[in-house]
Amino acid sequence: MTGNVKVVILAAGLGTRMRSNRAKVLHEAGGDTLLNQVIRAALPVAAAENIVAVVGHQAEQVRESVKFGGVRFAEQPQQKGTGHAVLCARNEIGVEDGRLLILNGDGPLLRPETLRMLLQKSDASEGGAIVTTEVADPTGYGRILRDANDAVAAIVEQKAATSEQLQIREINPGVYCFNASLFWKYIEQITPDNPANEYYLTDMVGIMKNHGHSISPLLVKDETELLGINTRVELAIADKILRDRKTHELMLSGVTVQTPETVTVDVEVQVGQDSLIESHVQLLGKTRIGANCRIGTGSVLRNCELADNVTILPYVVADSTKVGRGAAIGPFSRLRMNAEADEDTHIGNFVELKKTRLGKGSKASHLAYLGDAVIGSRANIGAGTITCNYDGARKHRTTIGDESFIGSNSTLVAPLTIAEGAYVAAGSTITKDVEPDALAIGRAYQVEKPGWAKKRRAAKHKEP
Ligand code: UD1
Ligand code: CA
Repeated sequence: MTGNVKVVILAAGLGTRMRSNRAKVLHEAGGDTLLNQVIRAALPVAAAENIVAVVGHQAEQVRESVKFGGVRFAEQPQQKGTGHAVLCARNEIGVEDGRLLILNGDGPLLRPETLRMLLQKSDASEGGAIVTTEVADPTGYGRILRDANDAVAAIVEQKAATSEQLQIREINPGVYCFNASLFWKYIEQITPDNPANEYYLTDMVGIMKNHGHSISPLLVKDETELLGINTRVELAIADKILRDRKTHELMLSGVTVQTPETVTVDVEVQVGQDSLIESHVQLLGKTRIGANCRIGTGSVLRNCELADNVTILPYVVADSTKVGRGAAIGPFSRLRMNAEADEDTHIGNFVELKKTRLGKGSKASHLAYLGDAVIGSRANIGAGTITCNYDGARKHRTTIGDESFIGSNSTLVAPLTIAEGAYVAAGSTITKDVEPDALAIGRAYQVEKPGWAKKRRAAKHKEP
């Protein structure tokens, strides 16, 4: 059996045991939805256009959650069982010769290597091949019945199994590769003749066997790869396994990870060689980190892009932020909404950047709010500087030129431009644009009354 590979992923169920208002395949493990994780495993063996996900519960949200272009969908309006779900995909996937991979949408730990082995194995068997594994507690899984030749004779579901069959520890994880022509030929023979009154996909194995087409088992040793998620306890177990895989992958690619069991890295995150991730760091979304970076403990970076040689000190929270080479950020800085910190910038403790660009070599070392601002290179933003970007109705922009110096505790009322090389005196409230190289002072002048305090004390002593 050779030819093209088509994939059907079953993702229409609600997942009652999750006790959730969200469809099961929308829950996340390892930093992505269960469904995206399964698609990710299938993409190395099939073109996206040859993958069809069967959706039903919250079909619209499930479609929208799929981030891989080209993947197609089929609707299963009522969840009448896994066999019925595949039937609903028939038109979309097309009935052609070749191999039909069918994957449960709730098995996010599956690896592409296993699918490759399964495809190979299926070549040797007329009916196809299925993955099996042995587990300590098979409760809930379909059990594998072998025939005299050690091929798979049938799969018997928990609800339909005899007490003897329930002892079998070899189970069906929901990863199948069928001979497509035979599969479509026999699909109508699946009936809901079982205690659950569902169309069981698993019946197809016995049907093939009865027509004389053998199905080979691919017994996978690592059962953790084949965990099906039915409850949030299993979701947490899968999440842990995927996190471990990711940190291992990073370490093997040349990244140092301290106490990796405390570190959370999403599946799509990239980290360059010789970077160091301290304990309790979270790297989320599409975060990309260059080489020779250091990410300090407790930092949470989501969808950030860091060039090489960036130092993130402890407890930095950054979202959708770009950081240039050699920059040093933290501790306790917050950067968000397309903030940009260019090369060699320094952002210190309790500094917030929102939609703000800090130019090359500029510094904001302590206690500042910089929102909707464009700041040039080699500028110095003093402690306590606030851009007043919001007038209660609209946001306004602050522009600060190259090599300008903003004194401590300045209040910059936007819209405002402080031109290059200008100085703002400490404690100023600046409401008007400042010329290049000027000094702007916007504060009450100091008045001094000589001897005032002494006189006051003397007056106090005279009181009766
Ligand atoms: C299924 C298998 C069982 C196997 C187990 C592995 C069947 C009959 N049983 O049982 O042998 O050990 O997976 O985890 O297939 N789905 C639909 N439409 C439906 C029903 C289910 O799309 O009408 C989808 C679900 O969204 C889910 C997948 O199919 O992603 C598996 O369904 P689930 O109800 O979890 O099957 P299990 O009872 O776990
Ligand atoms: Ca399941």
